[in-house]
Amino acid sequence: MSVVDLFEAAAGTYDQARRRLVPCFDEFYGTAIELVSPTLRAAAADGRTPEVLDLGAGTGLLSALVGAAVPGARITLLDAAPAMLAIAADHLTAQRVAHTVEVADLTAPLPAGPYDAVVTALAVHHLDDAGKRALYRRIHDVLRPGGVFVNAEQVAGPTPELDRRYAEVWLAQITALGSDRAEIDAAHHRMSYDRPAPVTAQCTWLTEAGFTNVDCFFKSWRFAVLGAHRPTP
Ligand SMILES: C[S@@+](CC[C@H](N)C(=O)[O-])C[C@H]1O[C@@H](n2cnc3c(N)ncnc32)[C@H](O)[C@@H]1O
Repeated sequence: MSVVDLFEAAAGTYDQARRRLVPCFDEFYGTAIELVSPTLRAAAADGRTPEVLDLGAGTGLLSALVGAAVPGARITLLDAAPAMLAIAADHLTAQRVAHTVEVADLTAPLPAGPYDAVVTALAVHHLDDAGKRALYRRIHDVLRPGGVFVNAEQVAGPTPELDRRYAEVWLAQITALGSDRAEIDAAHHRMSYDRPAPVTAQCTWLTEAGFTNVDCFFKSWRFAVLGAHRPTP
């Protein structure tokens, strides 16, 4: 079974566990929205429909927040799990956010765009490091000059010791928030497929891919929000 199969099978219960499994939920997604909004509002002010690509969009949690923050944005949601995208489409239709869904793998060529923003949350860590680097290059290429990339991500600790500490703190936090044994075991099983990378390496890869203004704008233990722009000529 692949990690995508696990998400596909658990699509119906995905949303209800999010605020427990991402203890810093509001700051984490909130920072992503703060980062992406100015570029999308500038596109709208120029008379264009702001175009957004959400990679590993899942049930559309991040897309829904983007749609609420920037009314009029059009969002393409890409994910390899059709059941996750079906839930996303229902949410966005109810919210009246213009959207299309695309069932595709993150390692495949991306839709051509161009996009004002590419966003992703808790998805890139499913790729190995070569896959992450290649994806960052492809994201750069489908952004408009001046476009923004936001990656709200689960990251590795910079040392094995810190990584173990991240895991301990996360377990204590989700237990305090009410995750039961079954939820913890399922999360650990999914996470056994994860290949997170440290913040510093990912910032280097983003710079190598051609991005500017590369930074980590939020971090709470294993949850980090990275942002970057495609330079204007
Ligand atoms: C933890 S969920 C995140 C969903 C959503 N972005 C959010 O913030 O709630 C990870 C998503 O990435 C998708 N995914 C994992 N590996 C993928 C791959 N190689 N190609 C496409 N989607 C993938 C899964 O199907 C799942 O929907």
